[in-house]
Amino acid sequence: IPRSSNVIRCRLNTSLPNEESYKLTVSQSSIHIDARTPKGIFYAFQTLRQLLPSAIESDKLVTEKVKWNIPCVVIEDSPAFSYRGVMLDVSRHFIPKEDVKRHIDLLAFHKLNILHWHLTDDQGWRIEIKKYPKLTTVGGYRKKTIVGYMWDNPTEWYTKRYGGFYTQEDIKEVVAYAKKRFVEIIPEIEMPGHASAALASYPELSCGLRQDYVVRDYFDVFDEVYYPKEHTFDFLENVLVEVMELFPSHYIHIGGDECPKKAWKKCIHCQTLMKKEGLPDEEALQSWFIHKIEQFVNSRGRDIIGWDEILEGGLAPNATVMSWRGEEGGIIAARQKHKVIMTPSKRCYIDYYQESPEYAPLAIGGFLPLDSVYFYNPLPAGLTTEEQSYIIGTQANIWGEYIQTPEAFEYMAFPRLLAMSEVQWTQPEYKDFVFFTRRLDKEFKRLDYCQVNSCRNFYEVNYAGVWNENHETYEVALSSFCPDAEIHYAINDSVITASSSLYKSPILLSKDAVIYAAVYKEGKSMGRVTHKEFAINKATGCDYKCVPKTEWEHLDESFGLTDGYCGYAQDMRRWASFYQDSVQIVALGTGDERYENMFRHFDWKYHGKVSAQIYYDESMSHRIYAASD
Ligand code: ACM
Repeated sequence: IPRSSNVIRCRLNTSLPNEESYKLTVSQSSIHIDARTPKGIFYAFQTLRQLLPSAIESDKLVTEKVKWNIPCVVIEDSPAFSYRGVMLDVSRHFIPKEDVKRHIDLLAFHKLNILHWHLTDDQGWRIEIKKYPKLTTVGGYRKKTIVGYMWDNPTEWYTKRYGGFYTQEDIKEVVAYAKKRFVEIIPEIEMPGHASAALASYPELSCGLRQDYVVRDYFDVFDEVYYPKEHTFDFLENVLVEVMELFPSHYIHIGGDECPKKAWKKCIHCQTLMKKEGLPDEEALQSWFIHKIEQFVNSRGRDIIGWDEILEGGLAPNATVMSWRGEEGGIIAARQKHKVIMTPSKRCYIDYYQESPEYAPLAIGGFLPLDSVYFYNPLPAGLTTEEQSYIIGTQANIWGEYIQTPEAFEYMAFPRLLAMSEVQWTQPEYKDFVFFTRRLDKEFKRLDYCQVNSCRNFYEVNYAGVWNENHETYEVALSSFCPDAEIHYAINDSVITASSSLYKSPILLSKDAVIYAAVYKEGKSMGRVTHKEFAINKATGCDYKCVPKTEWEHLDESFGLTDGYCGYAQDMRRWASFYQDSVQIVALGTGDERYENMFRHFDWKYHGKVSAQIYYDESMSHRIYAASD
């Protein structure tokens, strides 16, 4: 008997704008959901969960007093983008299937609809292929694994055999699990590069550069790549046949990134093939390779996605481009009327640091705080509206080099995935970072109920130091993402309490200092005490030029090395690398002074190149704090 009150009524309704949109009407007596498809209804239910107190996520009976109220609302909602993805790299560190499922739950709850599953790479092949069992028996395991950075001296290793893979039954189970939650899984099978694990299993797929291929135990771009010969294409096609049977997704990701051409340059077969096919260079050979794979995938009714390197040498006719080295590739592809997924590393790589590295678990580098994710707009202003329509969405990538456990994956993902989900779903006119931060208290509670190991930098203090040219002083501004935070701080004193100085305006420093600070709300401590060390001296705030240039552009001139920040071992952004025996820092400060040899050679070598450390130079009483190397 249809009831009119005290019910949740779902209705399929073709008047909704698209298959993901919904209308949620909460009145005092009932909840009505209208959607064009069950997917829209699913999303309405996720919104309902969000409207309820976060304790709804508890897996235990909630005994404390909670008002189980939902506000009376009418919500008409539609996603900004149809492709709302996250990439999980399970090659560098394996994530067991149960944890992948948990991740899918979290994606679905935040209305993401794509899991891009990076299943093969140099450090491990993670998907069972019946026709090629060695891919997993050999390619699924490595003898040891680097723990820190490979340029660390001494290098540390986890010395146990490491690996794992998903059986085809596991894959079917995870795909079905995702489908129920309206998440599509797009598998990635990397080619022609990032192929060490495959070549360790079947060396005959290589150009014969060597025969002693191993599943790689450290993280880099390696010269071993697939050999563009018939038997390699047979292999790849046979692999793709099994992959396409397991994954019903329209898209199959074929990688295409970071493929060094050294082996092809040396290979007689490759050079002959290039002549025969009229290919001017090895980039064209890569393009020819990808075209061939695309034809095969297209012949099975599917389309390929490739990283933006597939533009080099000419784009395959139906390929979708995943733009990661910035947005340039995506812009070029959209202008060529190819579909694009924007995932520029500086805005979407959530394996980058999200907090000051001295407090963070070791990460790959970079810096991508919560607000940078939130403010990302995947539609470049330089494109026309028509060109923008080729940008089908955006994706956060979680590369696994330095993320060893499922808990660590969660730490990198949250809360940044909450920000990404608003980039992906929320219509631009409703995006509002301050409003977002006001909702995060509740979201963190929800994540706690779900036992998600999220990063809490949100409740900590961030430091921004600048040389104020006009006042000739160094000013340190303290801030926190947490709204209405009271920041208490002290200089050169690590004990912070609610009675430490209350931060009101930038702190002026005239000499070296360490600032300690913590966030409080209504007298209650919200997070850890953090600190930052500043070096203030005659060089602070001065322009300079580095000859030769550093590895990192922002350290080449003006302030990178003289911005008052001391570097930390884990914060590569503050370390200036010079791959030569000497370096000049020119025109430091006013006038035309030249300070040469203001460095000492650092005692390690990286790829045979000497790095130098900008160092304390007593005679000139200048100190330059490059974090070093
Ligand atoms: C990539 O980050 N190599 C796609």
